[in-house]
Amino acid sequence: MVLMQIFGVDIGGSGIKGAPVDLDRGELVQERFKVLTPHPATPESVVDGVKEVVGHFGWTGPVGITFPGVVTGGSTIRTAANVDKGWIDTDARALFGERLGGLPVTVLNDADAAGVAEMRFGAGRDRRGTVIVLTLGTGIGSALFTDGVLVPNTELGHLELNGHDAEKRASTKAKDDHELSWEQWANRVQKYLAHVEMLFSPELFVIGGGVSRKSHRFLPLIKGIRAEIVPAQLQNNAGIVGAAMRAADAR
Ligand code: BGC
Repeated sequence: MVLMQIFGVDIGGSGIKGAPVDLDRGELVQERFKVLTPHPATPESVVDGVKEVVGHFGWTGPVGITFPGVVTGGSTIRTAANVDKGWIDTDARALFGERLGGLPVTVLNDADAAGVAEMRFGAGRDRRGTVIVLTLGTGIGSALFTDGVLVPNTELGHLELNGHDAEKRASTKAKDDHELSWEQWANRVQKYLAHVEMLFSPELFVIGGGVSRKSHRFLPLIKGIRAEIVPAQLQNNAGIVGAAMRAADAR
């Protein structure tokens, strides 16, 4: 049997990470390689970072790439909350493709990528109904599924929470910036989840992002949410796996 492998890259607030992915198992085939996300994260500097990651493996096949903003049509960037605004309205597929020497490239929102990976291989596997995957990190990303089908670019991190952009209150960056205790932060996450639950009445919340590794520190503190709340299972690899899945679908 020939292993189905595609390269996935996840562009995050702190790192640009990538690896070839085994799409039958949803696992990285080799240890991932990471470069620091440049600041400012301009198109040129991020594209260079992606080139370095893909080049590290000498990869010459299709590449799926996540982006932390709205991405339409597998290509066009529409928002850039936590990266340089120079990205807005760029044709990211063309930018990456050119710099990668013409490799076929697909681009999608980072939380959507993490979500599709969790739904296929992780905490959302075989779950019907409404499922919302939230990634808590530099921002808050969201992926909304109904009977396993993604509604892309939902951007629920930018809902208003107590008069603020929700991700400014309840992301892990907000926890660090404001030196919040786990209790204080869990309280904010709880308010946020209650708001999202009021709007969508999901059966399940999957909580992703690097902090999902420490879910035992905060999930038990969250009360009063009717939906089941579980940590993501693919943790920091979900974006890479989901990006590769999308690139495979696009072939
Ligand atoms: C962006 C989203 C992204 C999330 C997580 C938000 O600020 O608007 O598109 O998914 O951060 O990176």
